[in-house]
Amino acid sequence: IDLQLNKPGVAIQPTMWGIFFEDINFAADGGLYAELVKNRSFSFDDPMMGWKTFSKDSIRIINEVAAGTQKRFVRLSALKSGTENFLQNDGFRGMGLHEGEEYRLILHMRAVNGGAQKLKVELLGDDKMTIAEGELTVDGEDWGYAELVLKAGATADKGSLKISLEGNGTVDFKYISLFPVKTFKDRPNGMRLDLAEKLADLKPGFVRFPGGCIVEGHQLDLRYQWKKTVGDVEEREVIINRWNTEFMHRYTPDYYQSFGLGFFEYFQLAEDLGAEPLPILNCGMACQYNTGELVPLDEMEPYVSDALDLIEFANGDSATKWGKLRAEMGHPEPFNLKYLGIGNEQWGDQYLERYDVIAEKVHEKYPEIQLVSGSGPSSDGDRFEHLWKELKTRSANLVDEHYYKDPNWFFNNAKRYDNYERGGLKVFAGEYASHTRVESKDPTSNNNWLAALSEAAFMTGLERNADVVSMASYAPLFAHVDAWQWRPDLIWFDNLNSVTTPNYYVQQMYSTHRGDHVLPVVSEGDILAGQDSLYASASVDKAAKKVYLKLVNSSVAAKSVKINLKGGKLASKEAGLTELYDSDLMAYNTLAKQDVIVPQTSTVAVKGNLLSLELKPKSFILVELTT
Ligand code: AHR
Repeated sequence: IDLQLNKPGVAIQPTMWGIFFEDINFAADGGLYAELVKNRSFSFDDPMMGWKTFSKDSIRIINEVAAGTQKRFVRLSALKSGTENFLQNDGFRGMGLHEGEEYRLILHMRAVNGGAQKLKVELLGDDKMTIAEGELTVDGEDWGYAELVLKAGATADKGSLKISLEGNGTVDFKYISLFPVKTFKDRPNGMRLDLAEKLADLKPGFVRFPGGCIVEGHQLDLRYQWKKTVGDVEEREVIINRWNTEFMHRYTPDYYQSFGLGFFEYFQLAEDLGAEPLPILNCGMACQYNTGELVPLDEMEPYVSDALDLIEFANGDSATKWGKLRAEMGHPEPFNLKYLGIGNEQWGDQYLERYDVIAEKVHEKYPEIQLVSGSGPSSDGDRFEHLWKELKTRSANLVDEHYYKDPNWFFNNAKRYDNYERGGLKVFAGEYASHTRVESKDPTSNNNWLAALSEAAFMTGLERNADVVSMASYAPLFAHVDAWQWRPDLIWFDNLNSVTTPNYYVQQMYSTHRGDHVLPVVSEGDILAGQDSLYASASVDKAAKKVYLKLVNSSVAAKSVKINLKGGKLASKEAGLTELYDSDLMAYNTLAKQDVIVPQTSTVAVKGNLLSLELKPKSFILVELTT
């Protein structure tokens, strides 16, 4: 194998390796979004979903008809003597509470018929015994807020919050929220620390949000509408989650979107991660696999405004309507939005017509914004060819290709982009994952080593073709072990802990060793993309004076490889190695056994200009050289 050190080729974009976020598998509510109370504003279709009481006689649900959306409240009244009157919330499949950690409760409430009412507040552990306790008083008939910080005396995975009336009165509750005091970057309304840190450790180049299919919705009135996800958190309209449906033989009837993690928070998260924000908007079409509902072309105005106003929200100054809202929400500086996606997995002329309406207006007003077009769900076939052909004649900058395929497809497609047309549309490989069972309904398709290895091989082709591929992201990102609809997924979690998969480590080995230019790596004059079961790509980081070589051995046999380092001198004769490997292709990490497959680091001496490596069977290795 020859690695040419002094011939940097095409540039690798800083956005090359990013993350795809969708509220699927409890990724937002019950996951990254750190709120612990499910149905905090009693806005689910069943207002008491997630809540327990001693007796339903003590509860009344009241809808404030005149006040518009989200104005429902719950009236808790003391029953006759000797009974306990309480509201209890069990969180999202339980509340994760850590011993010694503080939790902030916020209540929006009032006392009915005046007077002061005492409330007892408890955090309950796994055995429903009290692990933290405090008291609050609600005084008067006007709506007001009260806050209480509780410190957990024990750790609980299935904890609860219990609020009891101490006297004989009646109290109305509009909103009950409980957050860990510690969140990522200490943001109020922030992100769960361990999960956000795992994202930060990927050093992502971009964050694509908010999905996925939830952008489309089964029907248009349930599509993702970003304007309903900004402003006062309590006022955001809750809707049923698009993944609240039977999928992969699973059903999560309590899956709703609170939008507490809304567009402001997504932009903020991207900024906190040092990543470019990449929002995707509905293009006037509901999911083509479901109702396929379409907006008539002459009624596209709300969709066009959504796009234009979003750019203003992200980049406009405080003199603009939407820029002012962003400033009021605590971010006077612009978010510097550069990319905008129109539609998720959509295709055909119906898509192109609607794309055109939005794209024309966006480019007219904001020519600097790069537009990402959708594409069909599977990235091959005539339908896909047609879309590419058409998009080439339009103003799209990137095409969002998705592939959920079996490992062989990934191994066989390492050359996928070698022959793509140069100089035109760029590729955003926006969703991909290797599924060890092609039949995606089969839940045995998990994050095993074979899947990750095949992705590593495929990604050599993405990196080598960085002049065509500008962005790539694995999907989906997160899954709650007790509430998933889709797998495999990059990061798994329960209420307390999280575990990274071999697929995560593959992504990380690429994203934290990106380089800025591709270097040629060949075997007998040909690029190495599967010959003799070897796959390779290399890059250079000119400023850091580092060269990164990624090598995959997909064979069942170990291999000794000799790498000739041509056309340059090394500053250090020691090469750093990071190896990912397991002899069991079906092995995977779990919360209980997190380190089944984790990167192993070591060093090897370079002799002269020769680097000799022993590649284990079915292994992925990253070599780091200093020039
Ligand atoms: O990543 C899961 C789903 O796969 C996404 O919502 C959708 O875009 C794709 O079909």
